[in-house]
Amino acid sequence: MTELSKIFSVAQELALETGQFLLSRFGSDFKVSKKGRINLVTEVDLKAEEMIVGRIRQEFPHHEILAEEKGSYTCESSYKWIVDPIDGTTNYAHGYRFFCVSIAVEYKGQIVLGVIYDPITEELFSARRGRGAFLNSRKIFVSGRDLLADSLLCTGFSYDVEEIKENLELFNRIILHARAVRRDGSAALDLCYVACGRFDGFWELSLQPWDVAAGTLIVSEAGGLLTNFNGTDCTIYGQQILATNGRIHRDLIQLLTA
Ligand code: IPD
Ligand code: CA
Ligand code: CA
Repeated sequence: MTELSKIFSVAQELALETGQFLLSRFGSDFKVSKKGRINLVTEVDLKAEEMIVGRIRQEFPHHEILAEEKGSYTCESSYKWIVDPIDGTTNYAHGYRFFCVSIAVEYKGQIVLGVIYDPITEELFSARRGRGAFLNSRKIFVSGRDLLADSLLCTGFSYDVEEIKENLELFNRIILHARAVRRDGSAALDLCYVACGRFDGFWELSLQPWDVAAGTLIVSEAGGLLTNFNGTDCTIYGQQILATNGRIHRDLIQLLTA
């Protein structure tokens, strides 16, 4: 087994195990705290991250880790794990069934694998660079719709309340041209839904690397296109993300930059 295959297999195991843990605590009486006015963290986020980071440290003690809550570990390494123990914490805390665990690995600055698991639907989305994207064992592809008017889109609003006005302006502008726009509360799963053709496009401002690291690779390996709002190259460390099936990309750029 190559080093990368071993890492991929551990990432998949971790996503499945953590997903089971999230499901076992879902709807129970867990502690919820505020990180900001509307930004929550639950004791389940913290425990799930501890489980993931603990296993990575045990199996790959020389790898760097960037995790959302508390588990980051910095060192000189070609490998960096990027972990969101629960993407969709607000949904999770409210008993709304749309959340996941997201794990990605960067090698020398490039994302080489990503896994995202939704324990409610038992859907494991995964991708390795150059090897396609999968939903469980099925290869997935972005949709073939070319008209914005026929498209189901999705967006998200970050916790930065200053940005609400800008988010609403974009939402109002785009909803007039699409079939419908959803706002479902888990950027990682939103990207997976673009990758498997349920959504035709997704955009959001001010996401964090752990929200999008795995999802962006899954979209691109499924044949999708990812850029900033103006069409230039995006990175997981940037401020904007537009992910589509490629066919409606130019029309969305026009609306996002109007
Ligand atoms: C959030 C979700 C949400 C997005 C927020 C993210 P969290 O992540 O991805 O969809 O709109 O910007 O912060 O806090 O649930 O891990
Ligand atoms: Ca997140
Ligand atoms: Ca999170």
